[in-house]
Amino acid sequence: MKTIIKNISELIQTETSKVDFVSGKDMQNINTIKDAFLEITDGLISNFGSMDEWAGIDDWINTNIIDADGGMVFPTYCDSHTHLVFAKSRESEFIDRIKGLSYQEIADNGGGILNSVEKLRNTSEEKLFADAKIRLDNIIKLGTGAVEIKSGYGLSIESELKILRVIKRLKKCSEITIKSTFLAAHAIPNEFENNKEGYLDLIIADMLPKVIDENLADYIDIFCEKDYFTNDDTNKLLSAANKYGLRAKTHVNQFNSIGGVETSVRNNALSVDHLEIMKENDIDVLMRTSCMPTILPSCSFFLGIPYSPARKMIDKGLPIALATDFNPGSSPSGNMNFVSSLGCIKLKMTPEEVINATTINSAYAMGVERELGSIALGKKANFFITKEIPSYSYLHYSFGENLIESVYLNGKKQ
Ligand code: NIG
Ligand code: FE
Repeated sequence: MKTIIKNISELIQTETSKVDFVSGKDMQNINTIKDAFLEITDGLISNFGSMDEWAGIDDWINTNIIDADGGMVFPTYCDSHTHLVFAKSRESEFIDRIKGLSYQEIADNGGGILNSVEKLRNTSEEKLFADAKIRLDNIIKLGTGAVEIKSGYGLSIESELKILRVIKRLKKCSEITIKSTFLAAHAIPNEFENNKEGYLDLIIADMLPKVIDENLADYIDIFCEKDYFTNDDTNKLLSAANKYGLRAKTHVNQFNSIGGVETSVRNNALSVDHLEIMKENDIDVLMRTSCMPTILPSCSFFLGIPYSPARKMIDKGLPIALATDFNPGSSPSGNMNFVSSLGCIKLKMTPEEVINATTINSAYAMGVERELGSIALGKKANFFITKEIPSYSYLHYSFGENLIESVYLNGKKQ
C-alpha cells in the first residue's frame, strides 16, 4: 500500500547526503523543499520532492492520498531522554519550590527521587503500564516519534525489573520507536543509606546480569552528581556495563561539574545529558568524540536552575541534542514543541539548530539515526503535518500553541 501526502507547503529536514549527526556551524543548515509531496510505501519513505516533479498516481486502488492543505511536514521529534514510567506526580514539591525550597532541600526532606521510588514500589506493573501508555499516547500527539525511557525509580532488583518490563511491553504495543535505559544508579535507596558501595555492588553483580539476561535494556545510565554517585562510581559502573556491550547515556553536570563528562567519554558513552554546569575542560573533552551532548532545557525552566551554555558549545564546534527529561520531579512535561521554543528563547539556538537538535542529533543520541531523524529514502515514515503556518520558525516562535494537525508513525495516522 502506498500513501502520498500532497500539497505540503514546505517539507522540512530532507536528507541530501547521509549523516549520523551535525555539529557546530553545520547545525545552522537544514534542507527543505517548498510545495512538496511525500510518498510512503509499507511504512517507509519511498519518495519525496517538489509537486512539479511528482509523477502522479499509477495505481489508484492501492494508493491513499492525503492533502496536507498547505501545512508543513516535519520528521517527528526524537526525545532521547525521559523517565516516563513513574507512579505519581509530585506537585507538592513544586509548591515547596514556589515557597523557596531548592531541589536539594526538597530531596533532603524526603522528596525528590526517593519519593518517587516509594510510590513506584507500591504500584503494580499493570498500573504503571496503563499510566505510561497514556503518557506515551500524549507525547505522540505532540509530535514525538521516538523516545528513550529510563528505569531508576525502583532501586531494587524487583522494582527496577518491573519498570524495564513495562518499557518492554510499551515497545510491543505502540508504533512509536522506544529505547530503554537501565538507571538503577539514579539515587541511593534508603536500605543502603550508609552503604553506597553495597548498592553499587548489587547493581553490578546482581541487577546488571539479570537485565542483560532478559534483554531489558539498550543503554545504561548513572546520576553522576554530588550526594549521588561519584566519578569513580561512574567509571566502575560504565566499565562493568561495557563488558556486556551496554553503552552509556549519563546524567552529568546538572548541579556540579565533578568530572562525569570526561569519565563518560572515556567509557565510550553515546550521550552525556543535562550539562547545566560546564567547565572549559568539560567542553574540550567532548570535541571530536562520538558522544552527543544533550541538553534538557525544560528541566532548567521548571527547577529555575541555570541553562546549559549551548551557544558556546555550538560555537566551539560541538553538536547538541535536545530532549524533554520527562519525569515527575524536574520536568513534568514531554512536550518537544516547548523544548524547541526554549532552545531558541533560552539557549539562543536558531530554529535550524533546534530542528537538527530535536531530530537527527537526538536520533543519534538514542541510536536510531539510521531509521529516523530526517526525511530520507528508506527511513521510517514518522512525520507530522502542521496547521498552515507562515514559516517553519513560527513553530518555535509561537510557544505554547499546538500547531500539529496530525502525526504519522510508520506511515499510519495516530
Ligand atoms: O534528570 N537528575 C536526576 N534525575 C532526574 C530527576 C528525577 C526526579 O527528580 O525525580 C532528572 O532531572
Ligand atoms: Fe533525567
